[in-house]
Amino acid sequence: MSGSDSKSVRFSVAPGGRLQGRLRVPGDKSISHRSIMLGSLAEGETRVTGFLEGDDSLATLAAFKAMGVLIEGPVNGRVRIQGVGLHGLQPPSQPLDLGNSGTSMRLMAGLLAGQSFNATLTGDASLSGRPMKRVVEPLARMGAHIGTTDRGTAPLVIRGGAQLTGIDYAMPVASAQVKSSVLLAGLYASGRTCVTEPAPTRDHTERMLAGMGYPVQRDGNRVCLEGGHMLRGMAIDVPADISSAAFFLVGASIAPGSDLVLEHVGINPTRTGVIDILIRMGASIGIENRREVGGEPVADLHVRAARLHGIDIPPELVPLAIDEFPALFVAAACAEGRTVLTGAEELRVKESDRIQVMADGLAALGVNAQATPDGMIIEGGAIGAGRVNSHGDHRIAMAFAMAALQAQGPIEISDCANVNTSFPGFVELAGQAGLHIES
Ligand code: S3P
Repeated sequence: MSGSDSKSVRFSVAPGGRLQGRLRVPGDKSISHRSIMLGSLAEGETRVTGFLEGDDSLATLAAFKAMGVLIEGPVNGRVRIQGVGLHGLQPPSQPLDLGNSGTSMRLMAGLLAGQSFNATLTGDASLSGRPMKRVVEPLARMGAHIGTTDRGTAPLVIRGGAQLTGIDYAMPVASAQVKSSVLLAGLYASGRTCVTEPAPTRDHTERMLAGMGYPVQRDGNRVCLEGGHMLRGMAIDVPADISSAAFFLVGASIAPGSDLVLEHVGINPTRTGVIDILIRMGASIGIENRREVGGEPVADLHVRAARLHGIDIPPELVPLAIDEFPALFVAAACAEGRTVLTGAEELRVKESDRIQVMADGLAALGVNAQATPDGMIIEGGAIGAGRVNSHGDHRIAMAFAMAALQAQGPIEISDCANVNTSFPGFVELAGQAGLHIES
């Protein structure tokens, strides 16, 4: 969708209501991206179910089709990928447009650094402003040739034919995208590639590589692999995205009378910071029917309304809840007392500057929220009514939609089209659960 169309989508949310019933939110975005990437590089067929049919994962899918991979679907979340093997991708005839998707761009930078052909990666205005040096720098150390703008941003111009060599990389930021980018380049490198992370980040790449038979060594905060092995296609059942479930966990917690079950949610321990933080705030969240699908733990999450109180968010939980802070800020605004977040400067370089945009939006609703360089201080209390701008950030739009459950009047949210990047059908599903939302 173009920028001008995207600005035209607005949400109007009437105050009050409660969330009830059982529902399944769409598939995990991180796992959906990786299913296309690794399924394409595998030998043989990969069948995916529960694939996220959102703009971001569809951008990855289109990019691999443009590199000659036969991909059928998605139809009702089912995708069939005829893997071409690690050396079977074809040169794309045009730049690959990855839209709003940072995961696509950063992971593909690593994967394409090892190909024999040139490729250019572009994105929308938001993605074109996000930092890419964090992947370009370690990839260059491996021998990759990747050009950026003077500001270290996309377009990324990747020169093929580089001879990559494994590196031992200590990441300065806790980033699963950087870790994954270096590991994917490592598939094409001579020798061993190791990444050490300053704090645990989502490990879906490592799990899926191992699931496809690629030898991966993991030891604490360090992961290593050697180039030259192969991937075997497999069946991938993508669980519901805990990052999408998060809006409902917060909404049901703050709306009196709520009682909601979120089915088949991925509860990989590198992703469950949102549950831990909400429980520390007093939330009632039960983890039921735990099981494992395709190497990823899943469960049904049973959430009931509860009285929340403010907390100091433990910094070690930040990377484990990195995408959930827009929703958590809304929970904090409804909680009794003060919530303090520190150590989250990464939020400033997401799809929007999530610290500033959320502080502005909360202030517009009468909440006492103070942005700090690396977090926010929120005094919980009443949420008023008003207009907020999501700045084209899907998670900001959905977080403010949930805020209406506890607001004193209607909330109008502008620039909401990008909700489709991660959560197609949000308005309908939230409406069925009890949110008074119109688009
Ligand atoms: C993602 C990693 C996270 C997250 C993003 C998806 C991934 O980014 O914010 O939405 O799929 O690897 P960082 O690793 O840059 O923190």
